[in-house]
Amino acid sequence: LSIEEQSISGSDLTRLRSLAYDQAGIHLGPDKKTMLELRIRPRLRVLGLNSYSEYCEYLFGRQGQREELVSFLDVVTTNKTDFFREPGHFEFLVKIGLAAMLERTGATRELRLWSAGCSTGEEPYTLAMVLSEYAEAHPELRFSILATDLSTTVLEKAQRGIFRAEVVAPVPIELRRKYFMRSRDRASDQMRAVPELRSLIEFRRLNFMDTDYGIEGKMDALFCRNVIIYFDRPTKEQIIRKLVHVLVPGGYAFFGHSETLNGFDVPLQPLGPALYRKTDG
Ligand SMILES: C[S@@+](CC[C@H](N)C(=O)[O-])C[C@H]1O[C@@H](n2cnc3c(N)ncnc32)[C@H](O)[C@@H]1O
Repeated sequence: LSIEEQSISGSDLTRLRSLAYDQAGIHLGPDKKTMLELRIRPRLRVLGLNSYSEYCEYLFGRQGQREELVSFLDVVTTNKTDFFREPGHFEFLVKIGLAAMLERTGATRELRLWSAGCSTGEEPYTLAMVLSEYAEAHPELRFSILATDLSTTVLEKAQRGIFRAEVVAPVPIELRRKYFMRSRDRASDQMRAVPELRSLIEFRRLNFMDTDYGIEGKMDALFCRNVIIYFDRPTKEQIIRKLVHVLVPGGYAFFGHSETLNGFDVPLQPLGPALYRKTDG
């Protein structure tokens, strides 16, 4: 049988689902079999394997656990994102959030923002543009952005900062002109974030399942949007608690609009749609 005609066996599906859950907290429903098959297929090609069972044998073996686990985790993550996604959050920063943060710190230090689950970078680059624009009118604003993700593939793309014109289209034209450059090759539809923008963001790999997030000091704002949907309820609560621990009291936490924190025991107080403030104390 060609790979296209094969499918993942029931027992392999069970172990792949457990691995995704144990390693990344990602809950794959039994309905995700076709998705897994489609996404694992390119790995079979890369590794020169002929079946899903050979892949599982390799992945769960000693060498695979060392060398294939990261690629498998890349396979199971969903990385959909956009520039200026859920724009209300950026409007909030410009109208209220940044002024409040500057007032709280007295502008004595730089503000630190964290895009947790940054995917290919659209979210942290949006933040970098919004804050750079704000800083032109408010020179007291100094800031840095940390952007983290589990997937090494998306992080590499994010770091390069090269996007297709179609992807950059949601960026308002004046910002696009200022913060993106066209490829020298006229036939290419790629655009690259200018170095000044790229230098505002530090990209780093971080798995929310890790015990220690390795973040020194505290963050003023946390963006964790469209990430916790993949986790089951206990995992969500556990992760949010750890993320929020890194926030300063009064710091802002932004989630995806479809994500509710109802009933979670976390020190967050609702402020607006998918927007929270860390309670003092
Ligand atoms: C759908 S994207 C969201 C991107 C962006 N925050 C947005 O709202 O547009 C979700 C991201 O979460 C990441 N992710 C999933 N599980 C993770 C984990 N255990 N640790 C860290 N990141 C994870 C995925 O790799 C993916 O890039």
